[in-house]
Parts: sequence; C-alpha cells; structure tokens
Amino acid sequence: MKSLNRSQRSRFPIPFFGLALVLLVFLASPTRSCTEQEKSSLLQLLAGLSQDGGLTASWRSNTDCCRWEGISCSLNRMVTDVVLAYRGLEGSISPFLGNLTSLLRFDLSHNLLSGGLPLELLQSSSILVLDVSFNRLTGGLSELPSSTPVRPLQVLNISSNLFTGRFPSTIWEVMKSLVALNASTNSFTGQMPTMSCVSAPSFAVLELSFNKFSGNIPPGLSNCSLLKLLSAGNNHLSGTLPDELFKVTTLEHLSLPFNWLEGELKGIINLTNLVTLDLGKNEFRGNIPESIGELKKLEELLLDHNSMSGELPSALSNCTNLVTLDLKVNHFNGEFTKINFLSLPNLKILDILSNDFTGTIPESIYSCSKLTALRLSFNHFHGQLSEKIGNLKSLSFLALVNLSLTNITRTLQILGSSRSLTTIFIGFNFLHETMPEDDNIGGFENLQVLSMNYCSLSGTLPGWLSKLTKLGMLFLQSNQLTGPIPDWISSLKLLFYLDLSNNSFTGEIPTALMEMPMLKSDKTAPKIFSELPLYFFSPFVEYLKPGAFPKVLNLGINNFTGVIPEEIGQLQGLLLLNLSSNKLSGEIPQQIGTLTNLQLLDLSSNHFTSTIPATLNNLHFLSKFNISNNDLEGSIPTAGQLSTFPDSSFDGNPKLCGLMIVNHCGSAEAASESIISREQIGSKVIFAIAFGAFFGVGVLYDQMVLARYFG
Ligand SMILES: *[C@@H]1O[C@H](CO)[C@@H](O)[C@H](O)[C@H]1NC(C)=O
Ligand SMILES: *[C@@H]1O[C@H](CO)[C@@H](O)[C@H](O)[C@H]1NC(C)=O
Ligand SMILES: *[C@@H]1O[C@H](CO)[C@@H](O)[C@H](O)[C@H]1NC(C)=O
Ligand SMILES: *[C@@H]1O[C@H](CO)[C@@H](O)[C@H](O)[C@H]1NC(C)=O
Ligand SMILES: *[C@@H]1O[C@H](CO)[C@@H](O)[C@H](O)[C@H]1NC(C)=O
Ligand SMILES: *[C@@H]1O[C@H](CO)[C@@H](O)[C@H](O)[C@H]1NC(C)=O
Ligand SMILES: *[C@@H]1O[C@H](CO)[C@@H](O)[C@H](O)[C@H]1NC(C)=O
Ligand SMILES: *[C@@H]1O[C@H](CO)[C@@H](O)[C@H](O)[C@H]1NC(C)=O
Ligand SMILES: *[C@@H]1O[C@H](CO)[C@@H](O)[C@H](O)[C@H]1NC(C)=O
Ligand SMILES: *[C@@H]1O[C@H](CO)[C@@H](O)[C@H](O)[C@H]1NC(C)=O
Ligand SMILES: *[C@@H]1O[C@H](CO)[C@@H](O)[C@H](O)[C@H]1NC(C)=O
Ligand SMILES: *[C@@H]1O[C@H](CO)[C@@H](O)[C@H](O)[C@H]1NC(C)=O
Repeated sequence: MKSLNRSQRSRFPIPFFGLALVLLVFLASPTRSCTEQEKSSLLQLLAGLSQDGGLTASWRSNTDCCRWEGISCSLNRMVTDVVLAYRGLEGSISPFLGNLTSLLRFDLSHNLLSGGLPLELLQSSSILVLDVSFNRLTGGLSELPSSTPVRPLQVLNISSNLFTGRFPSTIWEVMKSLVALNASTNSFTGQMPTMSCVSAPSFAVLELSFNKFSGNIPPGLSNCSLLKLLSAGNNHLSGTLPDELFKVTTLEHLSLPFNWLEGELKGIINLTNLVTLDLGKNEFRGNIPESIGELKKLEELLLDHNSMSGELPSALSNCTNLVTLDLKVNHFNGEFTKINFLSLPNLKILDILSNDFTGTIPESIYSCSKLTALRLSFNHFHGQLSEKIGNLKSLSFLALVNLSLTNITRTLQILGSSRSLTTIFIGFNFLHETMPEDDNIGGFENLQVLSMNYCSLSGTLPGWLSKLTKLGMLFLQSNQLTGPIPDWISSLKLLFYLDLSNNSFTGEIPTALMEMPMLKSDKTAPKIFSELPLYFFSPFVEYLKPGAFPKVLNLGINNFTGVIPEEIGQLQGLLLLNLSSNKLSGEIPQQIGTLTNLQLLDLSSNHFTSTIPATLNNLHFLSKFNISNNDLEGSIPTAGQLSTFPDSSFDGNPKLCGLMIVNHCGSAEAASESIISREQIGSKVIFAIAFGAFFGVGVLYDQMVLARYFG
C-alpha cells in the first residue's frame, strides 16, 4: 500500500516546489496511511448506508483513508474529522465510529439518515463537535452509564430530527466542557433538561425550540454564568419565569415564544445584556416596566399575542438599538406618541396591530428611515396619514386598517409615490367616500397586495388599477362599487386573488375575466413577499405560508346578470370560485367540472336553471359546495363528490330531487342511487383523508373563506 502510494507520486515530475514540500511532509510522517482499524471503522459507516452519495468512489479499502472524501487526519494519520454534510446519505450511523479515538469533529448534518444516534458517539472520549442536525434520526437518547468518565464534547447539535422521549439528565454530568446544545425541532417530551452549570461551567447555548417540553422553566440555570442563549419557543412550557433566570445576566438571547408562560416582566430588566427578547404568544400580563430603558443592547423586542396592558414607558426610547418592536395583539393603551422614534434610528419593523392605543400616529415615526414594515391596524388613533411617510424609502409593508382615516384620494396620492411599497392594507377607513377615478393616482410600481375593503366606497372599479402591473392580490370586498368589471382586468398579468364580493357591480361576467393569465395557469401563484405575517380571519389566525396563497375569484353578493361564460373552464388555476348572491341565470356550464383544483364552489342564490351538470362530480378536491336557492331541476348526480354534501347545499331548489334532500326522485331510481352513493362515500372519505394529510385542506378553507380583512 505504502509503495503503491509512493510509486503513484513518483510518476509525477515534481513541477512545483509546493508538491515537493507536500511529499516531504508525507515521507517524513511516521505512518503514511491511516490504520487499518480506523479504515475499517469508516468502512462500517459506509456499509450502513443504503445511499452513499457517491462516497464509494473515493472510500476504497486499498487507499489511505486520510485521503478519502470528507475525512481529515492529524499529522500522525489519525482520523480527526468526518465531515459529510449535504451528501444525500441514507441509512444508519454505525456505532463503530466510536472507535475513531482521535475524532474531533463529526458532521453528518443535512442528510437523510435514519435509525438512532449510537451511544458510542455521545460517549466518545475525543469528539468535540457532534452535528447530526437535519436528518431523520429517531428514538430516544439513552442515559449514559453512571460509570462514564468525563467527556470532552463541546457542541452537540441533534436538531431537526425525529427524536422522542425525555432528554437524558446524565449528559450534563459527564459533558463538563459542553458549550452548546442544540436539540431544536424534534419531539422531545417531559421536563426541559435541567442544566447543572456547576458541572459544565462553560455552557453558553441551549436551543430547545420546537419540541414538546412541558412543565416550568427549571431554576437550575442560575449557575450558568456564561449562558448567552436560551431558546425554548414552541413547546408546552407553563408557569412564570423563575427568578433565578433573571440572575443570568450574561444572557443575550432569550426566546420563549409560543408557550403557556405567564406572569409579569419585572425581573427581565436585570438582563442588561439582552439583544433579543421574544416572549410572544404566551400569557404574560402587566405592563412593560419603565426600567426597560436599561436594556441598551436590545435589538428585538417581541411581546405579541399576550395579555399585556398599560401605557408604554417613554424609556422605551432609550433602547436605541431596537430593530424590531412587535407588540401586536395585546391591550396596550395610552398615547403612542409617548415613544420618541427619533431615538430609534435602526427600527425596521414596528407592529402594534390590535391594541388600544389612542392619540395620533406619532410624527417621529417618519424619521425611522430604515423601516420596512409598519402595521398600526386596529387601534384607536385619529388624525391622518402624513405625507412624510414618503421619507420611509425602505417601507415595503404598510397596514393602517380601521384607524378612522379619511380622504382616500389624498391617501392614495401619498402612497402611490412610494416605490418600495409591496403590500398595503387600508380597509375599514374612508367610510362612504368615493373611489377616486383620478388619473393622477398611480405609481405603486412594486405593489403586490392592495386591500381597501369594508370602506363602503362608492364609484366604479377605477382605471388606475390597470397600471399596477405587479398586483397579485386585490381585496375590494364590502364596498358599494357599481358598474361592470372593465375589460382591462385581464391586463393584470400577475393577479391571482380577486375579491370583489359584497359590492353592487352589474353587467355580465366579462369574458376578459376568463383571460386572466394567473387564473388560467395551473402553476403556483407568484410568491408574495411579505415582511410580516398576514392575518385574514382574525389577529389570531396567521396565514400558513406567505408563498402559498390560493387562486381565488370571489364575485359573490353583487348584481351580476347573464350566464356564466363557458370559458370559465379556462380558469384551471382556481381554488375558490364564489358567484353566490347575484342574478346569474341559464345553465351551470359543464365546463366548471374541468376546474379540478377547486376546493370551494358557491353558486347559491342566483337564478340558475336546468340540471346540475354531472361533470361537477369530477371536482375531487371540493370541500365546500353550495347551489342552494336557484331554480335547478332533475336529480342530483350521485356517482361522485356531490353526494357527500349536506342538504343545505341544495336547499331552495323546489324542482330538484335526490337522495339527500327531502324531495326524493322516483323510488326505484332512489334505491339504485343509494347503493352507488354509499360506495362513493367510502372512497371519498379515504381520498379526503389522504388529501387532507398532504395539504391541510381544512385549515386552508378556514383561513381563506372567512372574513379577510385583518392584514
Ligand atoms: C468498535 O466498535 C464496536 C461497536 O461499538 C465494538 O463492538 C467493537 O468492539 C469495536 N472494535 C474495536 C477494535 O475497538
Ligand atoms: C448546530 O448547532 C450548533 C450550535 O447551536 C451550531 O453552531 C451549528 O451551526 C448548527 N449546525 C447547523 C448545520 O446548522
Ligand atoms: C440549531 O441548529 C439549527 C439547525 O438545525 C440552526 O439553524 C440553528 O441556528 C441552531 N441554533 C443555534 C442557537 O445555534
Ligand atoms: C448553584 O450552585 C451552588 C453551588 O455552587 C448550589 O449551592 C446551588 O444550589 C446551585 N443553584 C442551582 C439553582 O442549582
Ligand atoms: C435585579 O437586580 C437587583 C439589583 O441588582 C436586585 O436587587 C434584584 O433582586 C434583582 N431581581 C431579580 C428578580 O433577580
Ligand atoms: C433614558 O435616557 C435619558 C437620557 O439618557 C435619561 O435621562 C433617562 O433617565 C433614561 N430613562 C430610563 C428609564 O432609563
Ligand atoms: C374599528 O374601530 C372602531 C373604533 O375604534 C371599533 O368600534 C370597531 O369595532 C372596529 N372595527 C372592527 C371590525 O374591529
Ligand atoms: C382630499 O385631499 C385632496 C388633496 O389630495 C384635496 O384636494 C381634497 O379637497 C380633499 N378632500 C376632502 C374632502 O378633504
Ligand atoms: C357588506 O358590506 C357592508 C358594508 O359595506 C357590511 O356592513 C356587511 O356586513 C357586508 N356583508 C357581508 C356579508 O360581508
Ligand atoms: C341589486 O340591485 C337591486 C335593484 O337594483 C338593489 O335593490 C340591490 O340592493 C342590489 N344588490 C346589490 C348587492 O347591490
Ligand atoms: C361566498 O362569498 C360571499 C360574499 O363574500 C360569502 O358571504 C359566502 O359565505 C361565500 N361562500 C362561501 C361558501 O364561503
Ligand atoms: C348555502 O348558501 C345559503 C345562502 O346562499 C346558506 O344559507 C346556506 O347555509 C349555505 N349552505 C352551505 C352548506 O354552505
């Protein structure tokens, strides 16, 4: 083997001094290859893999394992590093790796490995960094045998796996050098691991978020005199923050969102090194203490979705490094102008959605030139939007819903000149004003989402909208707009979500609408970039993934007349089609049955006649269906989806007959139908379960179909 290596090398003419040097070092080293034992331990790893990401090409048993891909050795040819991240490896991790006695770094992160984490690795007498994050490892971590001597492990990252069970407590006792433990995104249960920093004095990072830990936050952390990060959000933790926690003054990042924690924040102010404080989505009460101003390093303050109240302390202005201030969905009150934003020049995100703030929008906000997202919706402000909002050159997200704003013309003129805005929510304002037709309104170069709903605006669909070439979502429901839908609508090439419901639009459903490129396309809608999570149903129901909005056409509750154009069959992308409560007539075109992505179809309260097209049974994903209050006749097709909807989906069609409605068809017919329909129900249920598991249909429905105005 050694001679093979030497002869390989001597074939080269040694053109470089560098190579000569390498050769020199090579020849000078006591052993020229890794030991057979180390090689065989590594080959055991390979043997355990069902998918080795091409490693076999370099991991050949007749070569020096120190030269294998992903392996590094020390000068004396002992394996020190096994680094095989992002290799697409599948299979299990061999316990034989515990035999690599000089191994320092072991990184198998971002693969598809399964099975357990061998205790031999945790117990290794040499490993300093063990990273198996982003795999599919399962099972629990066992307690280490009590006889285990002190181990040198410093960093343990087992995050983003499928580990379950309680976290072993003995790990701390032998890992006296542990600096970071990252166990986030698993399914660990039971008490949060109780650290004894007396035995691991260097401990600095404890990341446990996205697990199922329950119970209180253990007080044991107070001896962790170097702890910098404690993150345990998205667990089931309850109780108050222990006083001992407030003694850990080294803490820089304290992140505990989405738990059931309660109590007041008084002690927090002793943590003067905090950079991040995230206590959102808990049950904290009381106010923000005046002494918050002591937290001079604070950059992120997130207290959203709690039950906090009281006025904001003016000392908050002393936290001059603030980048994110998120107080949404609490009961904070008093004048918001108490905060002097002039002293918060780094602020990027300000979100106070749904509180009880009063007074005017502080002028000093317009000095925060780095703001990218500003949400003031659902507070009790009075006064108008200032032209100075134009100073906010980075502002992308603006939500000013229900703030008693007036003069929509002026507001749109101000906002239109912003090139940075991508999302605007200004519904529940401008009551009974007129939609400006003004050609001077324009700009909005980058606008993707525009919501001006629940304003009772009169007027028509204004022409300036046709110039918003990036528009993806338009919410104009619950106004009093009249007239037809203009043909320019199809020039909005990116529009995929259109809600014009509850207005007074008239005329026929234009064929231009059937030419909307996004609704015609089956491809997913363009990703909506949103700085902040969007809230549709209520401030408590966050929309799942910003990128995943469905394609929607809602023309319900208007005065549209005529027939549904047959071209409706072109709108292959649609998930929700709602034409309810209009004056539409004629037959329901059978082409609707080709819209196989539909999850909701509401044609209720119109004047549709004739029979229900059997093609509707092809709509396998349909979870809401309503054709009540029309003039339909004949029998309800039973061979498919339609048989599973309740009577109320068909009510108010006196000439309609069928199994599930009071009005039975002929008895012979009914008997045969009942057999078919039972089989159909069975397969539908299976299908629905399979589909629901993949796409979470119910959630989608709840979030999209109910009132959409919270922005
Ligand atoms: C290597 O590790 C395996 C599994 O942990 C063990 O059974 C075996 O005895 C070890 N071999 C040597 C040579 O240490
Ligand atoms: C694993 O966690 C450690 C410590 O928290 C961190 O330093 C490391 O970057 C993480 N690994 C990956 C792949 O993110
Ligand atoms: C924990 O590991 C994850 C990777 O799974 C990484 O994204 C995260 O940054 C780590 N946390 C810390 C605090 O290092
Ligand atoms: C902290 O350490 C001291 C001794 O070093 C010990 O008496 C005390 O109980 C420890 N505190 C906690 C909460 O573990
Ligand atoms: C906060 O610090 C002060 C002064 O250092 C101390 O008196 C108080 O007990 C500390 N509060 C908590 C909750 O630790
Ligand atoms: C805030 O800073 C000002 C000026 O530095 C100081 O006078 C005031 O006492 C501080 N307030 C608090 C609560 O820290
Ligand atoms: C809008 O604000 C007013 C006054 O603040 C309040 O009475 C009303 O309930 C709010 N509307 C909604 C839908 O929350
Ligand atoms: C609304 O603002 C415009 C300026 O943009 C102004 O001309 C108009 O008079 C205002 N309307 C009302 C009713 O104040
Ligand atoms: C329709 O809009 C009006 C205001 O324009 C509102 O009061 C009503 O609740 C809305 N109806 C529905 C069903 O949304
Ligand atoms: C439709 O038109 C009728 C009569 O013109 C009117 O009474 C009704 O309010 C209108 N409905 C809607 C939703 O605009
Ligand atoms: C269709 O839209 C109207 C108006 O927004 C609404 O009242 C109705 O509930 C919607 N239908 C369904 C099934 O959601
Ligand atoms: C169908 O729509 C009508 C109103 O148009 C409503 O009363 C009924 O509850 C709806 N039925 C279902 C199943 O959604």
